Amino acid sequence: MLLCVHFDGLTIAALSCLSIKIHPESRLSGRLDKSMSDQTTTTVKRQSLHGQWSTRMAFILAVTGSAVGLGNIWKFPYIAGENGGGAFVLIYLLCVFVVGLPIMMSEILIGRRGRRNPVMTMKIVGEEEGRSRNWALVGIMGIIAGVLILSFYSVIAGWAMSYVFMTAGGTFVDTDASQVKSTFELLSGSWKLTAFWHTFFIVITVVVVAQGVQRGLERLVRILMPALLVLLLLLLVFSMNSGYFGQAVEFMFRPNFSALTPSGVLIALGHAFFTLSLGMGAVMAYGAYLPEGTSITSTSVIVVLADTGIALLAGLIIFPVVFANNLQSDAGPGLIFQTLPLAFGHMPGGVFFGTMFFVLLSFAAWTSSIGMIEPAVAWMTESKGIKRAVAASILGGFTWLIGFGTVFSWSLWKEKTFFQGTFFDNIDYLISNIALPLGGLMITIFAGWVMCRNSTSDELNCGTGLMYKSWRFLARYIAPIAVILVLIEAASGGIVSDYLSTIGN
Ligand code: PHE
Repeated sequence: MLLCVHFDGLTIAALSCLSIKIHPESRLSGRLDKSMSDQTTTTVKRQSLHGQWSTRMAFILAVTGSAVGLGNIWKFPYIAGENGGGAFVLIYLLCVFVVGLPIMMSEILIGRRGRRNPVMTMKIVGEEEGRSRNWALVGIMGIIAGVLILSFYSVIAGWAMSYVFMTAGGTFVDTDASQVKSTFELLSGSWKLTAFWHTFFIVITVVVVAQGVQRGLERLVRILMPALLVLLLLLLVFSMNSGYFGQAVEFMFRPNFSALTPSGVLIALGHAFFTLSLGMGAVMAYGAYLPEGTSITSTSVIVVLADTGIALLAGLIIFPVVFANNLQSDAGPGLIFQTLPLAFGHMPGGVFFGTMFFVLLSFAAWTSSIGMIEPAVAWMTESKGIKRAVAASILGGFTWLIGFGTVFSWSLWKEKTFFQGTFFDNIDYLISNIALPLGGLMITIFAGWVMCRNSTSDELNCGTGLMYKSWRFLARYIAPIAVILVLIEAASGGIVSDYLSTIGN
């Protein structure tokens, strides 16, 4: 048990889980939280400096808006294709539910506890628990990761936006696979065109973030997320009638473990983090604006289910088109840009549906990109006193510049490959597969081991029964061990699976 009293920067930690938390940086609501029956927890709650989500639904939509994006529709199908389908999908699902879900709950609960940007939140909550303020480093790492993700994300989102106009203009009507491929290569190979759309996307992201996340984002996601779902379902009907649906289902759901490599397992784990926006503080920043009393558990379950459902839906839409047209399932980042236009080019109302699809994909990317720089913007405004609009613009400019590394990856620097491949391949690999899992590992260790039982059960608000125990077990043991094993497996080129197979024999 731990007694934590914070006052004017003074931290006194003693034995007992009676916690009275008054932090100098706190804006106090003045409301005393309930006392727990067996231990007295008197927690004076902080309030966010940026307001709160208007309803629980607004929060669910915002986190879903951040989670559902290019990761689900562009990235998931192409990495599933590159890594052999079924077995990869299975590992990915396992990572999402066993590692992703408890870490999402951890991020939200830490965020709401601290009610500040991830850097300050980790510092404040760490101190409150009588531990080091250096946990702030996790927040700083997240801020850097977020900026780097946006730098390449906006390039791909830019392509999606340019496809809106191409599809609407009838570019893909009655075309064949090779024409669609060369159209994509023309766009990605032109650094000027790609840079134009990259710039545009950064600008619209900065505009929303500058307005403040709730005001800017709430309005946006409320309409867009349901519309995206409806359109995906319509496209699913088209794919189901393509004659190749069964083959796609088999490809995605029949596990063939011989096609799975150690690095495939790491990619599946990395993608679980990427697609759920975990490990870099986006969800923590959103959690800071979550009203008291909103259930973190059910909210997280809804978001994880929605995100996973949309990724699987995207796969079930794209792979029938791949098989029907004899395309390569391992075509890489260009996969959706080379498959879907073919489908749109040949279906009734294709110009309309295709245009709508790329509009909604661009919007989905937009609502995700906001979460990437929100932690950094919140940090600059809260800690450095910089105005929101100025902070958003500075960060946007910086991200824009770094983005040119990705812009050139398909044109000027196409041949300049190192380590994992092009500049884009490397930045994506390092962030998705290393930085996000590492950030997630720190976050789950923080929630599971650094925060005392009372603080987490108070925040999760689900008592100390089975639900709480399950979360705590996953957060303390399963998620950290899984992340560590997968990182060791990938770094060593398969030491863990070699060891497991020797045990099996
Ligand atoms: N989850 C988003 C997607 O799947 C990407 C993202 C990563 C968003 C990290 C915010 C933070 O597209």
